[in-house]
Amino acid sequence: PMEKLPEGIDLYFYEGHWYPSMFIHCIIPFQQQFKAQDTDLILVSFPKSGTTWLKALAFAIANLNNYPLNESPLLATNPHVLVPFLSDAFYGKNPFLKLEDFPSPRILATHVPHSALPTSIKDSDCRVVYLCRNPLDQFISFSHFACKLSNRPFDPSFIEESFDMFCRGVSAYGPFWDHVLEYWKASRERPGKVLFLKYEDMKEDPISHLKVLAKFMGLPFSVEEESQGVIEEVLKLCSFDNLKDLEVNKNEKNRMGHPYSVFFRKGEVGDWANYLTPSMVERMNKLMEEKFAGSGLDFKFS
Ligand code: A3P
Repeated sequence: PMEKLPEGIDLYFYEGHWYPSMFIHCIIPFQQQFKAQDTDLILVSFPKSGTTWLKALAFAIANLNNYPLNESPLLATNPHVLVPFLSDAFYGKNPFLKLEDFPSPRILATHVPHSALPTSIKDSDCRVVYLCRNPLDQFISFSHFACKLSNRPFDPSFIEESFDMFCRGVSAYGPFWDHVLEYWKASRERPGKVLFLKYEDMKEDPISHLKVLAKFMGLPFSVEEESQGVIEEVLKLCSFDNLKDLEVNKNEKNRMGHPYSVFFRKGEVGDWANYLTPSMVERMNKLMEEKFAGSGLDFKFS
C-alpha cells in the first residue's frame, strides 16, 4: 500500500514499516548486499531525532587522534557527507557512495528499522548507536523539514492532517513506536552492541552522554583528555550554535540541491508546545501510554 503525506512525500508500506518512495528501492539491495565489518559503527535514528548531531559527535570522537579539533573536517564539511547514509550506496546502478572505497573503521548511518536491518549487521560484531526523540518534537521537526523541502506552508490544516497520519503510524520509517521499541529491545538484548540514546537526555547532560558514546565506540576519553577539557571542546565543535553558523552549513547545498541549513532549525526540546493543540497532545499521550506500556521506556517532553 501507498499513502501520500500532505507535503507530497509518497510513503510505501513494506514489511510493517512506511518508507519514503525515494528510499524504498534501496531497502532490498541494502538487506541483501551489505556486508557489515566487525569494526563498523552504524548510527541509526528515527528521522529528525538529532542524526546530524550524532554524526558530528561520533565523527569527532573517532578522529580525535587524526586532526586537532580546530582543524576538524567538521568545520568545512557537513556531517552527512562525513558520515553518509547507507542508502547512498544502494541507490540505483550508479550509487553516490562506493562502500569499497570507504576507509575502515567505517561510520555509516541509516533510518531503517531494526527488523529490516541486513542480517549481516545483526550477525557481525559491529556496533549500532540508536537515537530517538520524543514524538511531539520529532513530528514538529519533520513537518518543518518536509515543508521547507517541498515549499509548502506550515499551516494548521497541514499540521492537523499530518498529525493524524503520524498517530495512525503513517510517517517516514514509522510507525514511530515500533521503530523505537525494536531498537529498545535490541539494546537490552545486546547492550554491548546496541546503544540506545534519547535526544532529550543528550541535551540535558551532554558530557555524560558523550562519555558513554566514546566508551561504547571503544574510544573512551583518557583521564588526561578529560582534564584538558577535550570533552567540552568536542561538544562545542558539534553544538547546534557552532555547526549552524559554519559557512558550509549555512550556504551550501547537498547533491540533491537541498540546503544543509534545513538540518539546523531550532535544536531545542519542547518546541511542539508552540504548534500543537491540547487535544492533539492528549491524543499522543494516550497513544504513547498504550504503545510503550510495560516497556520501561518513556520520553521527556520539555
Ligand atoms: P528541530 O527541527 O527541532 O530544530 P536530524 O539531524 O535527525 O535530521 O534532526 C534534526 C533536528 O536536530 C532539528 O531539530 C535540528 O535543529 C536538530 N539539530 C541539528 N544539529 C543539532 C546539534 N548540533 N545539536 C542539537 N540539535 C541539533
